[in-house]
Amino acid sequence: MDNQQSTEFPGGLKDRVAIITGAANGIGRATAHAFAAAGATVELWDLDQEAGDATATAIVNAGGIAGFSRVNVANREQVDEAVASICERHGQIDILVNNAGIVRDGQLVKVKNGEVVKQMSQEAFDTVVSVNLKGVFNCTQAVVPTMISQKYGRILSASSVVGLYGNFGQTNYVATKSGVIGMTRVWARELGKYGITANAVAPGFIATEMVKSIPPKVLEHMVAHTPVGRMGQPEDIARTYLFLAAESAGFINGAVISVDGGSVLGT
Ligand SMILES: NC(=O)c1ccc[n+]([C@@H]2O[C@H](COP(=O)([O-])OP(=O)(O)OC[C@H]3O[C@@H](n4cnc5c(N)ncnc54)[C@H](O)[C@@H]3O)[C@@H](O)[C@H]2O)c1
Repeated sequence: MDNQQSTEFPGGLKDRVAIITGAANGIGRATAHAFAAAGATVELWDLDQEAGDATATAIVNAGGIAGFSRVNVANREQVDEAVASICERHGQIDILVNNAGIVRDGQLVKVKNGEVVKQMSQEAFDTVVSVNLKGVFNCTQAVVPTMISQKYGRILSASSVVGLYGNFGQTNYVATKSGVIGMTRVWARELGKYGITANAVAPGFIATEMVKSIPPKVLEHMVAHTPVGRMGQPEDIARTYLFLAAESAGFINGAVISVDGGSVLGT
């Protein structure tokens, strides 16, 4: 399996406890596998109980240490309870990967024959903000007191290439992904003195459920404009998180790492 190669990575995660949000599927699942293979105890959070349980079981069957909890990152009470439970069971939280994310695409205002026929709803805007932006705030604020007391921590958050460059039909999503970069830079400044670093990863188009709704023609166009000539795989992002999560990455702080095959250069 591709992500198992990560065990050979020099920056291991032995004796580290990591929370990965949105870990039941896609990039989060690949990251959980990669971290566990590198020796971390992984706590998987997601809304999808069935897939979350299956992922945790697969990791344990492969010899890793993993547990799944049904946690909605937009719900602060659930986040706080889950953090308290991890502190009780493990006595430490070293790494947080703010990976959970959703899309609810639509144009700000769609016009046909001079008439407004559709617009992004309040609900679509608020829902995406509550998960992709407030969720990242919730989880980070909940774990940081523990990281400060340890004088060690790694906060990694999912931005996106569209958070850097914008994208048609994604006012809500782009706002959150740009917002994640802003929060990351604030946390890099506020928390560095405690041995805590904060970094964001900006993936290009990665082959997961999230991009399944994109028409094949559009995907072909994207691949054609990606210099490496392929879509990204979840493991491409997992390996980046693994690199940033290691103790050896301690001088990388407030960075936004693009992992997109050079797609932006190709447009
Ligand atoms: N796939 C891509 O092309 C791409 C590109 C750039 C950025 N990203 C970002 O990477 C992250 C992971 O994306 P993915 O493609 O693996 O998505 P995915 O849809 O495959 O997985 C996302 C996971 O998050 C979970 N989730 C959703 N809402 C949640 C909530 N409120 N609380 C807890 N868990 C929740 C889902 O159940 C799912 O398991 C997202 O933040 C996404 O915005 C993805």
